[in-house]
Amino acid sequence: MIKSLETPEPQLLKPGIKAPVQETLLTPRFYTTDFEAVANLDISANETELRAIVEELRADYNRHHFVRDEEFKQSWDHITGEKRRAFIDFLERSCTSEFSGFLLFKELSRRLKDKNPLLADAFNFMARDEARHAGFLNKSMADLNLSLDLSYLTKHRTYTFFPPEWIIYTVYLSEKIGYWRYILVHRHIQANPEYQFYPLFRKFESWCQDENRHGDFFKALLRSQPQLWNNWTARLWIRFFLLAVFATHTITVFERVTFYESIGIHPRKYNNKVIQETNNTSARAFPLILNTNHPEFFWRLEQCSENNLKLAAISNSKRSKITKFLQKIPPSLAIVWHMLRLYLIKPIDTESIRETVR
Ligand SMILES: [Fe+2]
Ligand SMILES: [Fe+2]
Repeated sequence: MIKSLETPEPQLLKPGIKAPVQETLLTPRFYTTDFEAVANLDISANETELRAIVEELRADYNRHHFVRDEEFKQSWDHITGEKRRAFIDFLERSCTSEFSGFLLFKELSRRLKDKNPLLADAFNFMARDEARHAGFLNKSMADLNLSLDLSYLTKHRTYTFFPPEWIIYTVYLSEKIGYWRYILVHRHIQANPEYQFYPLFRKFESWCQDENRHGDFFKALLRSQPQLWNNWTARLWIRFFLLAVFATHTITVFERVTFYESIGIHPRKYNNKVIQETNNTSARAFPLILNTNHPEFFWRLEQCSENNLKLAAISNSKRSKITKFLQKIPPSLAIVWHMLRLYLIKPIDTESIRETVR
């Protein structure tokens, strides 16, 4: 039996407007970067592929997709209790990460306009997509009588600085993992329509194609910068980011077991599948991927999640600050230990496979 936390009752900023969840290491972040350095990237090594992807983005295949049709126009008051709270939490987390993508891409397109028009166009088209995604999710939240004040979020969230190379690694991975998360929910709901308690899920098929294209753009950008994949430091960073993204995914899935069960998805099978598929996909961009078939791989990821649930239970307890601090030491050390052991599992070289295929 997989344990889960109860989703807390949503806090309000004002009537109908939900206060954003407290920022933690695991809530979707807002990013800023060295815009000058991105503008100066020399993309000539992979310009043809980048141009082709920008033309795909320009074609805007999904411009008529994000329409709230008749099926949305009804009362959703019958979704109640823990299921409602868990669904709102899912919508909020998704909306925040879509909106975070929008803000970063919009700023990149604005700052790159004069210096690098091709990249500026790409970021502009991707910002367009993410704004649609965030808007659609926020309207779904409004159907449940709660929405996010996105301008409040823009002003009050802290922005994390990532150098351009980290942005490229993490956004590439989050687009590809986003693709797999959406498509696997979609396929499941299509096969089991009795779980479609809200029409959002059937929108995911075309939606995830946007994320797929965004991921392809970042892949092409990454491959245009050999220093991001053809040396040992790059390989160490890539191992780190793959693991960080997979560990975060595991922890957030196991925190939201109620939501996945409410749509008939087995959280463990879903988590493993999303990670395996994302890992396999990233072989096209990275010189290595992680060995998800190693017998300890998923076990250790789940140990991180178990310890994270322990940390959350300690935080929510009514003990003194100092007691909480001391009680948090063993689970925190356990997470660090499992992450270290995971990091040291020998990765799979994809560059040599690429060479043999060639
Ligand atoms: Fe998106
Ligand atoms: Fe995206």
